[in-house]
Amino acid sequence: MATSFWHPFANMTDVKDKSFTIVRGEGNYVFDKDGKGYFDATASLWYANAGYGRPEIVDAIKAQADTLTCYSTFGDITNEPIEELADFVAQRSPMANSKVFFVSGGGDAIETAAKLSRKFFVELGQSQRTVIVSRKDSYHGTHGFGTSLAGIDPNRVGWGELIPDVALVDRDDPEDLLRLANSVGADKVAAIFVEPVIGAGGVHLPTEGYLERIRQITKEIGALMIVDSVICGFGRLGYWFGPERFGVVPDMITFAKGITSGYVPLGGVVVSGEVSDPFFNRGVIFRHGPTYAGHPLAAAAGIANCTFLEKEGLIKRGEALEGHLKEALDGSSDSPLIEEVRGGLGLLGAIEFSKERRQVDPGVMGRVQMEMRSRGFLVRPLVSSIAVSPPLTATEDELERLGSAFVDALKAADR
Ligand SMILES: Cc1ncc(COP(=O)(O)O)c(C=O)c1O
Repeated sequence: MATSFWHPFANMTDVKDKSFTIVRGEGNYVFDKDGKGYFDATASLWYANAGYGRPEIVDAIKAQADTLTCYSTFGDITNEPIEELADFVAQRSPMANSKVFFVSGGGDAIETAAKLSRKFFVELGQSQRTVIVSRKDSYHGTHGFGTSLAGIDPNRVGWGELIPDVALVDRDDPEDLLRLANSVGADKVAAIFVEPVIGAGGVHLPTEGYLERIRQITKEIGALMIVDSVICGFGRLGYWFGPERFGVVPDMITFAKGITSGYVPLGGVVVSGEVSDPFFNRGVIFRHGPTYAGHPLAAAAGIANCTFLEKEGLIKRGEALEGHLKEALDGSSDSPLIEEVRGGLGLLGAIEFSKERRQVDPGVMGRVQMEMRSRGFLVRPLVSSIAVSPPLTATEDELERLGSAFVDALKAADR
């Protein structure tokens, strides 16, 4: 019988009769119904930074479920784990006097940061500052703002009219933000969203000095810089959030995924003392927040996961392993199917398929994915590339084997 479950971002006509069931996860591996193990080269959807089934995290979730499984945090109500996690995150934030707004995932975090940027300027008496900017090829989730700001065209078009006063700028040239500001009026720009390394758009590294220059320009034009670290945080780039790597102090940081390694859904926004000031010190109410904001079970998972990442020295591993991963992927560059190998900044990378080969053979990336699966490796096709972002617990040996598997899979899939 065909499934009742509608998969996200899936061609259900194909998938409805042939889905792939994962039943168990342990360390860097997941297992199917037949007990076959797969090295999870994608850390699920860029999030299982700690790997699967870590008892330290699982036990903390169980203990919290036994104590206080859920309660809202609207108004004056709070709970102990969310207070502890907020302090933990704020203390590691690159911004002074940070406050943390928790939500259920990355898309929620984008909505929160986008609305907060406009509201902040209303409170500053600059209600004309409404334009929110993103970069071509960027991905900021699938909610209202995230869809309106999508830099991957097929994710943005076809839904009718979306949120007004948004704009796209060049992916690599920071001066394009200045050009945009000059054309719409510098006093109209509220904020720009920037992924330190663009993830879902195909793993695009920032050009030399890109983030630093965006920071300068946003200061010059009086706009906010929001770093979207939903993928790049919690060790993926070797730091807690990612912008630290470039010496950049933004105004807000959106996060999700790696904060709990996905054990329980959780996202949020770290907000600078300056941006939170009207709300914390002048009585302004932010009329925003999803039902599960501050959920204690998610908070317990977050504390246990972050403690695990810190204790095991995993935050630094995103940087320590980046060269090994790039070297492993470089083996694919000899394949006639591959145009470019990207990586070397954090534990993520991609192999870009040749445009001509994709045009004459549209199924080629899917075949490589399946060849990798049959060899015991899970990888994921993106727009025109296959990306990887293994758990931070991956070993050098596993990365080497991943690289060799790609070489074999590319040969097998080449027609
Ligand atoms: C950079 C970035 N921002 C936002 C999101 C949206 O997060 P979520 O899927 O949890 O809504 C994602 C998801 O992959 C992402 O990669």
